[in-house]
Amino acid sequence: METGKNIAVAKKWLDAGELVGIPTETVYGLAANGLNTDAVLKIYKAKNRPQFNPLILHVPYLSEAKKLVQYFPEKALILAEHFMPGPLTLVLPKKGIVSDIISAGHNTVAIRIPNHPLTLQLLRQLDYPLAAPSANISGYISPTSIQHVLQQMGNKVKYVLDGGNCAVGVESTIVKIIGEEATILRYGGLAIEDIEALIGTVQHSNENNKNPEAPGMMLSHYAPKAKVIIGDIEKNLALLEGKTIGVLSFHKAYHEPEIKLSLQLSATQNLDEAARNIFAYLRQLDAATPEIILAELLPDEGLGKAINDRLIRAAVR
Ligand code: TXA
Ligand code: MG
Repeated sequence: METGKNIAVAKKWLDAGELVGIPTETVYGLAANGLNTDAVLKIYKAKNRPQFNPLILHVPYLSEAKKLVQYFPEKALILAEHFMPGPLTLVLPKKGIVSDIISAGHNTVAIRIPNHPLTLQLLRQLDYPLAAPSANISGYISPTSIQHVLQQMGNKVKYVLDGGNCAVGVESTIVKIIGEEATILRYGGLAIEDIEALIGTVQHSNENNKNPEAPGMMLSHYAPKAKVIIGDIEKNLALLEGKTIGVLSFHKAYHEPEIKLSLQLSATQNLDEAARNIFAYLRQLDAATPEIILAELLPDEGLGKAINDRLIRAAVR
């Protein structure tokens, strides 16, 4: 296994049906030839991912996305024109070329054009889309640096394209569009406010987490080993005297000496910076092995929605 910025090497392994780690602006992906069934099965195996959880196909251009779907609804076209490449995934009616293994038996396919120069260059040289989930073991914290990828996938990939730290830091926002109806399936790196400004009010998937519309949105996800408690950090600190505590705060920093590791998502309460830090900080707190991690919710706007969603899932086990 090697890492580097060599697109030809990445292409060589992908052409051979092997797994390659790829950078995107959201999180790192675990990529394989999306039209090669054996290669796609390797993704499920490497991540220990349940087979009912469909994969996103990554393409370099809208024209390539169009080849994978039956039609592009008007609202999807508007969003694609404004936000692709970018942290947006569209779920649309799929064509037969998309296998049931990619779509996990659904009649839709998830498509995204990632906004990372190395990965875009790579995609332009391939004659197939890349299937790529986040490059973590299923249910664990998503990777936003090459070190994160190597920790869990180092012995499962042939190569990792080194694209530095992810600029957005949370996964893409997923919007399903069928006809006139647009539904948010996952909050992510593109703010809902920006989507609604263009196509009007969107539906919100009914957050039925036992049977979510995006099968990957199981309630427990991103969970560190320590128990995560969300709420008033100061009050919870007082209640939990004697326990080893980690803190993941947003509104202020905590310097109490009894805290084992205290991290503030953004010293200036900037939601974009908080998104860039959330997964790396969860991993750092996990590595510090406190008994309990105290966290607090962020303002429920912009990328705050996506971060709160990750925090709530991290708190469920
Ligand atoms: O930012 C991202 O989207 C990253 C980077 C690598 O592109 N990818 C990513 O993939 O987050 P993954 O597999 O970790 O999450 C994909 C989510 C899952 O919750 C899955 O259930 C949902 O997308 N999904 C995929 N295809 C779907 C479909 N046809 N219908 C509904 N949900 C779908
Ligand atoms: Mg994932």
